[in-house]
Amino acid sequence: MAAAPNLANALNGATPLDGATPLHGTIRPELSKFEQETWCSLVERRCGISFSNGRLHVLHAGLWEEMQRLGIASFGEYYAHILRHASDWNSLLDRLTNNETSFFRHMPSFLTLSEELLPLLAPERLRQGAKRLSLWSAGCSSGEEAWSMAIAAKETAAGWHCEIAVLGCDLSTRALAAARRARYSQRAVAAIPEQLRRQYLIQDGAECEIRAGIRNIVRFDQFNLFERSTYPTQLQDVIFCQNVFIYFGDKMRARAASNLTECLAPGGFLVPAPGELAGLPIPGLEVLRLQHTTVLRRTTSTPAA
Ligand SMILES: C[S@@+](CC[C@H](N)C(=O)[O-])C[C@H]1O[C@@H](n2cnc3c(N)ncnc32)[C@H](O)[C@@H]1O
Repeated sequence: MAAAPNLANALNGATPLDGATPLHGTIRPELSKFEQETWCSLVERRCGISFSNGRLHVLHAGLWEEMQRLGIASFGEYYAHILRHASDWNSLLDRLTNNETSFFRHMPSFLTLSEELLPLLAPERLRQGAKRLSLWSAGCSSGEEAWSMAIAAKETAAGWHCEIAVLGCDLSTRALAAARRARYSQRAVAAIPEQLRRQYLIQDGAECEIRAGIRNIVRFDQFNLFERSTYPTQLQDVIFCQNVFIYFGDKMRARAASNLTECLAPGGFLVPAPGELAGLPIPGLEVLRLQHTTVLRRTTSTPAA
C-alpha cells in the first residue's frame, strides 16, 4: 500500500475517534491546491481514476460526503484516516466511481460476441481439449454487462459441447452488491430485446429478476484493474472492459490494458468500448476490425511486456 505522503504527516496523522459524530450542517471546506494534488495522486495511484481533467468537483463532493459520515472535519485528517482504514476506502470508492451502465449497452459488441468471437473460439478450444469458454466483464458495475454477455453466450452456444462461465468484477462493493442481487427495474430491463427478456428474466412485482439458468453461470467478485493479485487466476477467452478506461489518464490506461492482456488466453479477445484504446499501442494485442465493431486479439502466448 502507498506510503503516507506529506498531507497526512503535516496533520500529525490525527484520526477521528471511533463513533465520531457525523458533521451535519457544516459548511464544506475548500480543497487547497496541495490537498487536491495529494488526493488526486492517491486515488490515481491506487485505482487509476483521474480527477485532474475537469472532474475535481466529483472528488471534492465524494470526500466531503465521506467526511460528514465519519465526523471528520478536515481533508488532511481524513487522508490520514483513509491510509489506516481499508473498509472506509471501499466506501469512498463507492462515491468516486461512476457506475452508469445498462443492459446491452453497446449492442454491436454483443453481436460481435455472438456472431464472430464465440463461433471462432469454441471449435478452437474444443480442439485444444477445453470444454469451457471463460468470459469476463471487467468493470461490470451493477451487473448489466455481465448478464448481457451471459444471455448472448447462452443464446449462441445452445447445443454446443461447451460450457460458458461469466465473471463480473468491479472496484465498487456497492455496485457488486446490486449485481449479485440480480433484480432490476422495469425501466432498466426495457433495453433487453423482448424475447430475451421473457426467456431470461422473471417479473416479480415492480422488478425483474434474472432467472436461475443464467444466474448459475455468472459469478461476481471485487477486483482492481491495478492490483494483479485481485485478477482471476483462470485465463479468459473474452474480456469486455467498456467505459472504464475513459476515467484513466494515458499511462494508467496502458497499464490496465496490459494487465488485461496478460489475463487473456492466447487468441482471446479484449472488447473495449469504441475508441477507448484507439492509438494506444499495447504489446501482445492486434487490432481486428470486425463487421460490427473493433476488437483486440491476444497474439502471443508469452505475457505482454
Ligand atoms: C461507467 S461504469 C461501466 C460499466 C459497464 N462496463 C458498462 O460499460 O456499462 C465504470 C465501472 O468501472 C469501475 N472501475 C473504475 N475503476 C476501476 C478499477 N481500477 N478497477 C475495477 N473497476 C473499476 C467503476 O466502479 C464502475 O462501476
